[in-house]
Amino acid sequence: MVEFRLPRNSVVSKKGRAHRAPEGAGSVRTFRVYRYDPDSGQNPRYDSFEIDLDDCGPMVLDALIKMKSEQDASLTFRRSCREGICGSCSMNMNGRNGLACTTAIEDLKGEIRITPLPHMDVIKDLVPDFTHFYAQYASIEPWLKTKTPDPAGKERLQSPEDRAKLDGLYECILCACCSAGCPSYWWNSDKFLGPAILLQAYRWLADSRDEMTGERLDELEDPFRLYRCHTIMNCANVCPKGLNPAKAIAETKKMLLERAL
Ligand code: SF4
Ligand code: SF4
Ligand code: FES
Repeated sequence: MVEFRLPRNSVVSKKGRAHRAPEGAGSVRTFRVYRYDPDSGQNPRYDSFEIDLDDCGPMVLDALIKMKSEQDASLTFRRSCREGICGSCSMNMNGRNGLACTTAIEDLKGEIRITPLPHMDVIKDLVPDFTHFYAQYASIEPWLKTKTPDPAGKERLQSPEDRAKLDGLYECILCACCSAGCPSYWWNSDKFLGPAILLQAYRWLADSRDEMTGERLDELEDPFRLYRCHTIMNCANVCPKGLNPAKAIAETKKMLLERAL
């Protein structure tokens, strides 16, 4: 285990670590951050970090990067693009799932509590274990599947109207904010695919070039995999890209109904 030296204005107690803002800090906000290190054998705890907002970027991710670089280098979280594209920095901030890089600190009230995405196993601190989520993604075979031979030397073309049917689907960045906010997924994630993966599944059902629609629907027609969605709509409410997985799920159910008629 790597030991990191804490700065002088950090206090360690049984309750956790408190990192104070430097003297003379102009505009201080306190963050309470979930900490869990399985290698330590200790229970999870919350550490507090005082951040001088006059010396910090505007987003929650800016504050986390400042905490890690100036107050506690052992703080662990995922991030990459810093512009809402990679989906790495999904977490729960003041009780709401979102992307740390696109969530403004000034939009969060009071002491800011940061935890990993709920109802997922935690690898360390703010890093959830996506192994099961990615296995579910792989299970829907998220690639173009065809039966007819490729047009010689050409792409498979799509009309502008057919291409437009993918709007609201292709933008998904697989951040899992929706699935981690879905009560049905909390209780049945072993069998229910959850809103993120079902939106991805519909993305291929809606693609005019895909020729395996029937087989894809067969795979989804299951009391748990698809039908555990009870249209609670948390998924559409939290999606940081403004997508509506519940609508994609409803469209999938409609396709199943239509083919049964
Ligand atoms: S609408 Fe369905 S998928 Fe979305 S949060 Fe509700 S139960 Fe989950
Ligand atoms: S639908 Fe939205 S919340 Fe869900 S994984 Fe995709 S981008 Fe994230
Ligand atoms: S760092 Fe890529 S989405 Fe936040």
